[in-house]
Amino acid sequence: MAYDALFSTVFARMDPEVAHEQAFRAIRFGGRLAAPLTSVPPAPRSVMGVEFPNAFGLAAGFDKNARAVPGLLGLGFGHVEVGTVTARPQPGNPRPRLFRLLEDEAIVNRMGFNNDGAAVVASRLHRLRRTRAGADAVIGVNIGKTKVVPAAEAVADYVESARLLAPYASYLVVNVSSPNTPGLRDLQAVDSLRPILEAVGGVTAREGVPLVVKIAPDLADADVDAVADLALELGLDGISATNTTIARPDSLRTPRATVDAAGAGGLSGPVLADRSTEVLRRLRGRVGDRLALVGVGGVTTPQDVRDRLDAGADLVQAYTGFVYGGPMWPARLARASRL
Ligand code: FNR
Repeated sequence: MAYDALFSTVFARMDPEVAHEQAFRAIRFGGRLAAPLTSVPPAPRSVMGVEFPNAFGLAAGFDKNARAVPGLLGLGFGHVEVGTVTARPQPGNPRPRLFRLLEDEAIVNRMGFNNDGAAVVASRLHRLRRTRAGADAVIGVNIGKTKVVPAAEAVADYVESARLLAPYASYLVVNVSSPNTPGLRDLQAVDSLRPILEAVGGVTAREGVPLVVKIAPDLADADVDAVADLALELGLDGISATNTTIARPDSLRTPRATVDAAGAGGLSGPVLADRSTEVLRRLRGRVGDRLALVGVGGVTTPQDVRDRLDAGADLVQAYTGFVYGGPMWPARLARASRL
């Protein structure tokens, strides 16, 4: 059955998180079997000193606990960003916390960093790195703040995750842009962000791992510039733009009642593409070629990949497009990431 038909007859009728869990299991155990169908001609590019097989990867949040990396690479993603991982394990928000806006091929989520915690994910990555499939895989590790840890102790919390996870990461991402941990996005203010990036930067420098910060599309332009300047000053390696938005744009086609019924959370999918691209362009103008940029937000078609590269991205990622596009979709987009 074609994925479109499978999606509309099966997945669209299921609770979105249950559908995610079932698809995840299929990818985890079967993803590598798809490799003959999903081959992507090599288009290696060196970004932040790391050799990526191609420019297209899976954005954070799909494989929060690093359980399905080989299967996901088997579908054609050039790299996988695992996480967000927090220093302590946590259950995330109560369900339901994942919603589809079908008319927009969009998602609203307020998962709230449900994850196994840095120690468990680190041991999983340790094992993965000792396998043939995992040794050379490009795996970004995205870290966030544990919910119960107060903002004043955020630095130590991020450092704990970095210390445990950096040894296994191809690159490390400091996530300060999820809308679903109270106060997290306030850490994007330069005064709060500086000590986090300095301290985590100490860990990644020792490990020789590139450091990236991931920002929200809801930042004002002046704040985007301020983060860019800080990243340059502290010698970061890259910026990822963007996370989900808390906005509910007028351009949404889904009935307002459905959107409102989903409630609070981050919106992702094509409606996010314009603002994400705008932030990316702005960043490229600001930092020149001194930082790598990851373009993420609403990437759905092969043309979107090319457009994001044209707008200044070194790497392109997506999540929501995969949910609606199905198992053959990553390879299609990865093929478009050739220059
Ligand atoms: C996300 N995203 C996300 N980002 C992050 O840095 N850490 C995370 O844990 C998550 N979790 C998460 C869960 C779900 C269900 C979704 C849909 C998204 C954000 C994601 O990585 C990406 O930045 C945005 O979704 C925008 O890209 P797409 O989805 O429009 O391609």
